[in-house]
Amino acid sequence: MNRAVIPHVLNSAPLDALTRPLHDLRISVIDRCNFRCPYCMPEEQYAHDHAFLAKHERLRFEEMTRLARAFIAQGVRKLRLTGGEPLLRRELPVLVRMLAGLAGVEDLALTTNGVLLPRLAQELRDAGLMRLTVSLDTLDAETFRHLSGGRGEVAEVLAGIAAAEQAGFSKLKLNCVVMRGVNDVQVLDMLEHFRGSGHIVRFIEYMDVGTINGWQAERVVPSAELLARIGARWPLEPLARGYRGEVAERYAFADGGGEIGFISSVSQPFCGDCTRARLSADGKLYTCLFAQTGHDLRAPLRAGASDAELEALIGARWRQRADRYSELRADLRAAGNPEKVEMYTIGG
Ligand SMILES: C[S@@+](CC[C@H](N)C(=O)[O-])C[C@H]1O[C@@H](n2cnc3c(N)ncnc32)[C@H](O)[C@@H]1O
Ligand code: SF4
Repeated sequence: MNRAVIPHVLNSAPLDALTRPLHDLRISVIDRCNFRCPYCMPEEQYAHDHAFLAKHERLRFEEMTRLARAFIAQGVRKLRLTGGEPLLRRELPVLVRMLAGLAGVEDLALTTNGVLLPRLAQELRDAGLMRLTVSLDTLDAETFRHLSGGRGEVAEVLAGIAAAEQAGFSKLKLNCVVMRGVNDVQVLDMLEHFRGSGHIVRFIEYMDVGTINGWQAERVVPSAELLARIGARWPLEPLARGYRGEVAERYAFADGGGEIGFISSVSQPFCGDCTRARLSADGKLYTCLFAQTGHDLRAPLRAGASDAELEALIGARWRQRADRYSELRADLRAAGNPEKVEMYTIGG
């Protein structure tokens, strides 16, 4: 991994309209998924003939790497691969190796539902992937089937986690979306299982990303409520935030059982510190998880734009950024729920 900092970059890193720097880039490598989680891609919305991106519409690895380099020149230091399900993208370790070799990358991570890790964890590690986040909403087999849209088994994800450990990934982040009346009563079981493992379970409030998941505010379990429930079982101590833009509020088990986190985009929006850009698999730049539209970078890229031109496009778009959907959620929804980009398009 080349961690060299490119000196001219630091001076030119743009701030957005709300003085937030560009620091993180999430790259969605594919819009397809082998699950149909009801909070993301509800099965009934995706008929078997649903038109996902065709191969020629998706960015090639060389194109992603070129864009990643342009983002790095505009201040990005952390890259995360996502999807859809990123492990469905063929030859993914090849992309990981290309990105790991870019000067200026300080962190290279991936978010996955974990099912394909037994096949790929070692190759990803060998290619230079630094960190893994695995999504796991419950340990209960029946609830898991429901939350994967009938496409997965919890045992497969646990096997994926074991494969990741075997490959040398430690301190995994385990993302758990909590929905009232669905899996909220199972969070203590999750913690019982993973306490002491070194992995960090992070509870995510169910969000109104996109429009097709039929989000209902009543299904959200505010983190404060979960914190109280967990704290009643195991005393917790708050931990300081690791860095600007960290979205999770962190806590440690007082008895030394490890760390947990809460991502509370609904009850405690963190727009003020959001330093993330998102690139969809077809090369659109989204400046907010709840954006309505993206800014096409694939067309200029394929039309022969120079590196300097791509950097200028990214910088200009970032400087215009004024998104803060989560802070405005109530008003925007009251004014008529806007149609937003779907989660599987930009990957969280
Ligand atoms: C869109 S997925 C993409 C990567 C991979 N397929 C996975 O599930 O880990 C990224 C993350 O977004 C989370 N997510 C999806 N829809 C969500 C929603 N409506 N609210 C909160 N989190 C959501 C998933 O649980 C997952 O942890
Ligand atoms: S959350 Fe991830 S695994 Fe679930 S449907 Fe969305 S992209 Fe697929």
